[in-house]
Amino acid sequence: MKTTLKSSAQSIFHCAAILLCAALVVAASAVVAQAPAPDSPEIEAKAQAMLQKLTLEQKIELIGGVDSMFTHAEPSIDLPRFKMSDASVGVRTWGPTTAYAGGVMLAATWDRDFARKLGESLGGDARARSVNFLLGPGVNIARSPVAGRNFEYLSEDPFLNSQLVVPWIEGVQSKGVIATVKHYALNNQEYSRHDTDSEADERTMREIYLPAFEAAVTKGHVDAVMNSYNEINGQHATQNEFLNLKVLKGEWEFKGVLMSDWDATYDGIAAANNGLDLEMPSPRFMNAKTLMPAIKGGAVKESTIDDKVLRLLRTELRYGFTERPQFDPSVSTYSVADREVALQGALEGITLLKNEGNVLPLDASKIKTIAVIGPDAWPAVPGGGGSSQATSFEPVSIVTGIANLVGPDVHVLYTRGLPEMMEIFGNTNWNGPVKESTYSSRDFSGSAATQNQGRIADYKEEWWGPADKTPRSIRYTASYKAATAGKYMLLSAASGGDKYVIKVDGKPVLEQTQAEGQVPESTTLDLNAGQTIEVIADYKPAFMGKRLGLGLVNESDMISEEVKKFASTADVVVVSVGYGPGTEGEGADRTFTLPWGQDALLEAVAAANSHTIVALTAGGAVDTHRWLDHVPVLLDNYYPGQEGGTAIADVLFGKHDPEGRLPVSFDRTWEENPSYPFYYPIKGADTVLHVPQSADQPPHDITIGHVKYGDKLMVGYRYWTTTGKHPLFPFGFGLSYTTFSFANLKAPSLAEIGTLEPKGVEVSFDVTNTGKTSGAEVAQLYVSDPSAKAQRPERELKGFEKVRLAPGETKHVSITLDSRAFSYWDEAGHKWTIDPGKFTIRVGDSSEDTPLSSDLTLQ
Ligand code: BGC
Repeated sequence: MKTTLKSSAQSIFHCAAILLCAALVVAASAVVAQAPAPDSPEIEAKAQAMLQKLTLEQKIELIGGVDSMFTHAEPSIDLPRFKMSDASVGVRTWGPTTAYAGGVMLAATWDRDFARKLGESLGGDARARSVNFLLGPGVNIARSPVAGRNFEYLSEDPFLNSQLVVPWIEGVQSKGVIATVKHYALNNQEYSRHDTDSEADERTMREIYLPAFEAAVTKGHVDAVMNSYNEINGQHATQNEFLNLKVLKGEWEFKGVLMSDWDATYDGIAAANNGLDLEMPSPRFMNAKTLMPAIKGGAVKESTIDDKVLRLLRTELRYGFTERPQFDPSVSTYSVADREVALQGALEGITLLKNEGNVLPLDASKIKTIAVIGPDAWPAVPGGGGSSQATSFEPVSIVTGIANLVGPDVHVLYTRGLPEMMEIFGNTNWNGPVKESTYSSRDFSGSAATQNQGRIADYKEEWWGPADKTPRSIRYTASYKAATAGKYMLLSAASGGDKYVIKVDGKPVLEQTQAEGQVPESTTLDLNAGQTIEVIADYKPAFMGKRLGLGLVNESDMISEEVKKFASTADVVVVSVGYGPGTEGEGADRTFTLPWGQDALLEAVAAANSHTIVALTAGGAVDTHRWLDHVPVLLDNYYPGQEGGTAIADVLFGKHDPEGRLPVSFDRTWEENPSYPFYYPIKGADTVLHVPQSADQPPHDITIGHVKYGDKLMVGYRYWTTTGKHPLFPFGFGLSYTTFSFANLKAPSLAEIGTLEPKGVEVSFDVTNTGKTSGAEVAQLYVSDPSAKAQRPERELKGFEKVRLAPGETKHVSITLDSRAFSYWDEAGHKWTIDPGKFTIRVGDSSEDTPLSSDLTLQ
């Protein structure tokens, strides 16, 4: 059953909105698709003529941004400035917008058509806001579950990312808006993102980390690319010759604009010579002061600058930016049609991971009371934090979505279930005063000024503050006496740039060392009745003042009284847990354990009600070990965009079959993830990089940590299927309310030698809905290459198709495998290669469950 906003009886658009809806849908469809014209001699002549009129200083000015989000204008050639905006989940520029289920949730839909639709909507939203460059999509591989921006990106698999990014880009660009694929490249963590060197061999880059960028350029014809902050094999992305010149502009023949991430440029001359076309947000390094003498002295060629200016001009001319206003009055700023798209993404992406005893779908007619509990239940959490965060018009929370659906006859109870963080800091019953010792050194050496206080509660939400030039470090010494035996939660939070280590009885238990962002950290202590512990917090503030919060609370005291009451009264409980902008986002990695208090909350609810449904808001896997065995249902709603609450309710109550499939392997622990041993910079191997003078900073040194991608190709399911071990839930997995079967695999046989010419290898099979309700299955095709000379991952995804089926219906699926489906990167030959011999094709509904298989031979 297809759910649309307008058909939903309890929808908030009921009745009066219908006329308005119709009018807006008509208006939206009136958008003139302004597909960029192909390169033409006229464009070239025009761009060259404009270039000729510019002085060298004017040209240099054009390759740096202004006012955070604009290209530079040049009135002498009638060139206005052009506007940029983020991106992945909604066009966030100044004011409310439609926030979609983008990023990882788009990947969970496995739906190319939806990716195009999403791109078109974002393109329209951009036109309605006069945006010329949309700063997305982000396609970095989800290498680890803790990377803070996974929610903005797509999946752990290069093929899935490539397949979705192409229609996404085509959709955006079809509206006359330039898409910007980012962050090129190997920016797979937020931890210390400015100060790490991602060190990977070429095969790993070519097979895992570059294909989505390659597809964006060579197939999606994206017109802008954004370099990342990090170094790659010893060179910052913005000056990386291999990535920018050899691969992007050389092999992939990228003709568009290569821009920096915001303040990701470190050396104006090196960046100019190694492919960077546009320094954003301002010319701190690629400016006249640096480049004029360099050009005079021969260190940079004027033709290099000309090439950058021409790339900008050609691209802008091709899009007609100088000929027409970017504002398109036929597009609605608030679009009901876009709300449909936001809803569709959420409906298609929600992934059912556990449904013991078929607790779902719920039957509203059998429910008198439903309790909706948890920090993510209300208000809505459409997306994570950072530059992608869009303010949506009226986001629908899970509480609202469920209440709308069940109607007035079902009693809906809601409680957040946990206190606010500041309450924990403020209400901690320390055993006596807390001693605060302030040292005038950065390392707690020398003498200290001390004072006593009752609590450690200086945490502030704002990240930045006035710089503190005087060295300072602060040590808090406190003791805590457990009144009763039990689990106690120790919770800490500080603000951007701050560092701390917290020790309990001399043992470090919480640590914050990231250079940029912060998320609250917590750990659980098992204490006996009357036990007293010593807590020391060594805190290094980054700015003036203090921003540390630290608290300790008995877990059972933390869960509100209402939780137990509501949970035991209700027929069914939906607990909405997970992350949000403050706990998962840009600038910091997130915790693998759910944010503080949520495990205890889930345990308390599950103990009070056996019909406990967990709805998870997260960019990837989380630690479920404390509660998964005690709850019958786990529904992964990722970050569902502004219509998430409606979609989650529709899935819970069976108005829509859960059709999302995991775009990442769901690990049990962070430590079992294959990247874990290699993820953090190698201890003791830091190097110092000298950064030359910039517009606003004297020459200075930065310390670079070295992140060795020793997991190589063994990312996600490649690792699990190669080692024969199993994650908690495999890549590609997701339950449905109906059942599907696969049959009749047809592929070239082992005996008849297959050939890739002229059309590739045809594989086909049938998918049948063997259950009683309509649903969608994602048929997945994996290739194995047992006779390869090089070691290859056991399985690699090389084809998929989302198939919608009525009960009893069968559809025949055909997938064509091209040469890349069988190739690996030959390190010695620096090229894609196919070793002739046997290949195995497997088809099924996850990376682990592939009922159909067939061997074939290629020569
Ligand atoms: C982010 C980019 C974003 C840019 C502009 C940076 O901090 O890394 O993804 O596009 O800001 O907002």
